[in-house]
Amino acid sequence: MAEEQSHTAQEQDINPWSVEGARDENGEVVAINYEAICRKWNTSIIDDKLLERFEKVTGHKPHRWLRRGLFFSHRDFDRILTLYERGEPFFLYTGRGPSTGSLHLGHTIPLQFTKWLQDVFDVPLVFMLTDDEKALFKDSITFEDAMHFAMENAKDIIALGFDLKKTFIYSDLKYVSNHFLMNAWEFGKLVTFNQVRGAFGFNESTNIGRIFFPSLQCVAAFATSYPEIWKDEPSTERTQEIANIQCLIPMGIDQDPYFRLLRDNAHRMRFPSPKPALIHSKFLTALQGAGGKMSSSDPNSAIFMTDTPKQIKTKINKYAFSGGQVSIEDHRRLGGNPDVDVSYVYLTYFEEDDAKLEEIYKNYKSGELLTGELKKMTIEVLQQYVAAFQEKRKEVTDEVLAAYMKPRKLEWKGNPNPVPAPAPAIRTKKESA
Ligand code: TRP
Repeated sequence: MAEEQSHTAQEQDINPWSVEGARDENGEVVAINYEAICRKWNTSIIDDKLLERFEKVTGHKPHRWLRRGLFFSHRDFDRILTLYERGEPFFLYTGRGPSTGSLHLGHTIPLQFTKWLQDVFDVPLVFMLTDDEKALFKDSITFEDAMHFAMENAKDIIALGFDLKKTFIYSDLKYVSNHFLMNAWEFGKLVTFNQVRGAFGFNESTNIGRIFFPSLQCVAAFATSYPEIWKDEPSTERTQEIANIQCLIPMGIDQDPYFRLLRDNAHRMRFPSPKPALIHSKFLTALQGAGGKMSSSDPNSAIFMTDTPKQIKTKINKYAFSGGQVSIEDHRRLGGNPDVDVSYVYLTYFEEDDAKLEEIYKNYKSGELLTGELKKMTIEVLQQYVAAFQEKRKEVTDEVLAAYMKPRKLEWKGNPNPVPAPAPAIRTKKESA
């Protein structure tokens, strides 16, 4: 019997193009197990020690998304802290695949977080819009569509408040050429089909556009791909000096396969670069609950940044999975389950005050706070967040867009009070003999 049932059970499947929670014996979706991903992919968990060091080195309290484990995993983030401490240069790189004209709430999370990192570290950011990727991987999207979405998305991204002086946004289809393209081909020469087929699930029938694409997403992390942003008069050739600048990539954990490939090969380039550091986020839970992520292709799973206050209210009231009891009497008696309650989960993303959040958690669990009351709080917080975004978005004209997308020298200061690296110990003759 048990054996028969286990036929429907399924492992979770996380890759750059789809995210699915595991299914239990009854075929029900279960919450994504993020620790299992860390173990499988061998990433490091962000622990209190790392956060303490972050606070000590930067003088900033860790963002609530770090404190609450929404950004939960990393590779070499500690090395970035060391660079910052010493006043050595590094830059941020992130991206988005423009598959629709407008962002949903889930998309804005890694982006907001990237902006916060940019503010804290005061470093340049390059923002890649993979219009090429979306046209290659979605049969229904033409290259023209994808490029058009990229421009619309760029405006949304700008509305999140990135600093023009420190930010370069580009569409792959428009920008990739010259040193970037040379990096992409050189990287392509280093990586075999055998190396990518497993990581990306390719096979012999996969079109060659898709097979080559990872090269682009990878080399975007090389400082040499952007000669203009570092110098007023960039060298006509790539240089080791620029290749040495390390990169930090904030991303959803589903993008990690790209960057494992990159980290395995960065040192093999003609001008080797340090392994990029990574910081991974969880996904914003779909309205329907854990096990799915917000998705543009399912409008009822997501709050869009174009939604009206009324739409937000309806979606939360109608679709947000509730951890409350079916009747008020039962709820008062038995209490709710905030851990699976989507309205509560959304509050944890947007409520800054840790104490207030804890209070809500306790009151919901004890049954003092009703589902309707909890939903009301979440609706208000989300309406505010989306309305503030829409105000900013109105100000992003075509001229503003062009300014962010122009290849140019960026301006930043980094750490204002660096502590230089300790000088290497000078060995006496006797010691070195
Ligand atoms: N492939 C990503 C997507 O589909 C876009 C992307 C490109 C990206 N470079 C990145 C995301 C770097 C995170 C970090 O959304």
